[in-house]
Amino acid sequence: NAPLRVAVAGCGVVGGGLLNRLLSDKRYEVVGVLVRNPAKKRDVSAPADLFTNDVEALLAQKPDLLLEALSEGEAGHALIRRALEAGCDVVSANKQAVARDPAGLQALAAANGCRVAWSASVGGGAPMIETLRAARAAGPVAGFEAVLNGTVNFMLQRLGEGAAFADALSDARVAGFAEEDPSSDLEGHDAAAKVKLLSFEAFGRAPADLPRDELSAETPLGDRPVRQIGACHDRGGELDASVRLDGDLKDALFQSLNGERNALKVYGQDGRVWTCKGRGAGRWATTESVLADVADVVRARRAAAELV
Ligand code: HSE
Repeated sequence: NAPLRVAVAGCGVVGGGLLNRLLSDKRYEVVGVLVRNPAKKRDVSAPADLFTNDVEALLAQKPDLLLEALSEGEAGHALIRRALEAGCDVVSANKQAVARDPAGLQALAAANGCRVAWSASVGGGAPMIETLRAARAAGPVAGFEAVLNGTVNFMLQRLGEGAAFADALSDARVAGFAEEDPSSDLEGHDAAAKVKLLSFEAFGRAPADLPRDELSAETPLGDRPVRQIGACHDRGGELDASVRLDGDLKDALFQSLNGERNALKVYGQDGRVWTCKGRGAGRWATTESVLADVADVVRARRAAAELV
């Protein structure tokens, strides 16, 4: 079997972790790495000539698969579309990119005979999209609640233990949980994108916009545990979605959730409940989740090739 030709976009916490894994695995041939500044020193041992800041030069290498791990939504979305148009399969860990138009990306992939997957965009190592698919396969979903941002969860735990806000944030950044611009975590944009992606799985559509509580050094936190809860419920056909800081937690799943962990609880219309939890952020949890998507895409490629 010839190795799979893989292009990587982004070389931060996730892209760099992926690159380290792919370069040491003979099943993959890394054909290029898209970055803003190809000359920058990085903690990966990739040949310097793999790095480029030119999308067309990257796609000219004819990758079978693009692993998209940029930190920016608009650029990521445009890149995914361009790659699909070029007939390249895509696995994305960039929630802001895929949450822009998940239905449009799936349609574009289908129109070009390609596959697109993004389960690593939500929940890191917690299989949230898979859990929602299982719930939906069993019957209509009434709603879901989830802890979706590892940075905020980690910080809320530390703040509850008496840490200073600046220290909790800097620890989350050093651990590789926070976004390049952590206001996306603190202002709830990261969790909101993830609520949209889970809503797309649960209901086949995503809310256009949703109210968000922001976490700052001024946010009053009482004596009880506070968690950031992203939720979406179907209220008679209307999607009621939000990202809230909840200091009145009733659910042990969320109350006891510490560190960068994420958790999901899905309610079926028939009263059934599904849950999952796991490491929601960080290099290795997310890298493993991307590689699980890669395995699914490779299986689907092989199945499609056998039909030809
Ligand atoms: N910044 C994100 C988080 C990374 O803290 O959850 C994982 O999506």
